Amino acid sequence: MTRLLDRTSVAFTESAKKFFNKKFPNSTLNFKEKSGGTRSGIVVTVTCDRKDTTYFMKTFHQAGTSGSYSSMKRHPPDLREMFAYRLLQIIGVGPVVFFPYYEGSTTILTEKVKEFTEVDKIEDVALQKKVVVESYLLSLILGIRDLNIGNIGSNQQKDLAIVDFCVTNGVNFVERKIVNNFLNKNNFDVPDISHDTLANIGHEERMKIAKDALAKWSQISTITSDIIGDEKRELRKHGIVLGNATDDVESYIEDIKLNYDSIFLASR
Ligand SMILES: Nc1ncnc2c1ncn2[C@@H]1O[C@H](COP(=O)(O)OP(=O)(O)OP(=O)(O)O)[C@@H](O)[C@H]1O
Ligand SMILES: [Mg+2]
Repeated sequence: MTRLLDRTSVAFTESAKKFFNKKFPNSTLNFKEKSGGTRSGIVVTVTCDRKDTTYFMKTFHQAGTSGSYSSMKRHPPDLREMFAYRLLQIIGVGPVVFFPYYEGSTTILTEKVKEFTEVDKIEDVALQKKVVVESYLLSLILGIRDLNIGNIGSNQQKDLAIVDFCVTNGVNFVERKIVNNFLNKNNFDVPDISHDTLANIGHEERMKIAKDALAKWSQISTITSDIIGDEKRELRKHGIVLGNATDDVESYIEDIKLNYDSIFLASR
């Protein structure tokens, strides 16, 4: 707790207190500094009815790697990143996620994934392949990057878990050659995994994994920005001007649906 005295950490803890006191009024909170990773953040353990739940709180990517609270205030949060986190939660790949708003800034608060095992520590070879191929596929469909070894792995149900990522900064998310890229390329931004694991998985095996995964992720083809409707309303209520961010998220959704549909068709 001693090192938590800088302003950003104080803002994080105050934000968490406000959020959890409302959500679980009779809980007690314990704070730790987040270890690993590049962005600042805190780890919060919430004790409620003698049950502990751990959460990770961090900044949006766009706020910069320093992630100071004051730098966050200059921008509205990236709604694409917010949308992608919530989408991953809905398809069962991402943790349960909240976006607490506190004094002009919004943070990403994820519930700890039970038995999260980082991809390079997965011993079951078939499970490791599934995690690698599915996360490569999602990186192409959703334009998510920074899927490094600490960010992808498996969960308690022996399924893919992605706990951290960023959405690329582009304006066009359509992967024109998604089928070819998925089946025949290894353009995965996890160098070790890309070369050692992905490159050794042939296109038939990739397609087999994709077929099952795409069926599980079918909500991508019907999802709308309503999944972050409450968050948008809260931001507006606090006077945050969303501006282009709302159009950006709508065009992002159109693009990722095209990606999903192209690869889905090819997999049938
Ligand atoms: N919801 C979660 N469930 C389980 N573990 C988590 C969760 N969130 C974070 N972690 C763990 O904490 C580590 C650091 O968190 P995170 O990746 O979010 O930080 P970061 O600073 O953004 O990392 P990066 O340098 O990859 O951008 C992760 O690698 C992971 O091991
Ligand atoms: Mg990380």
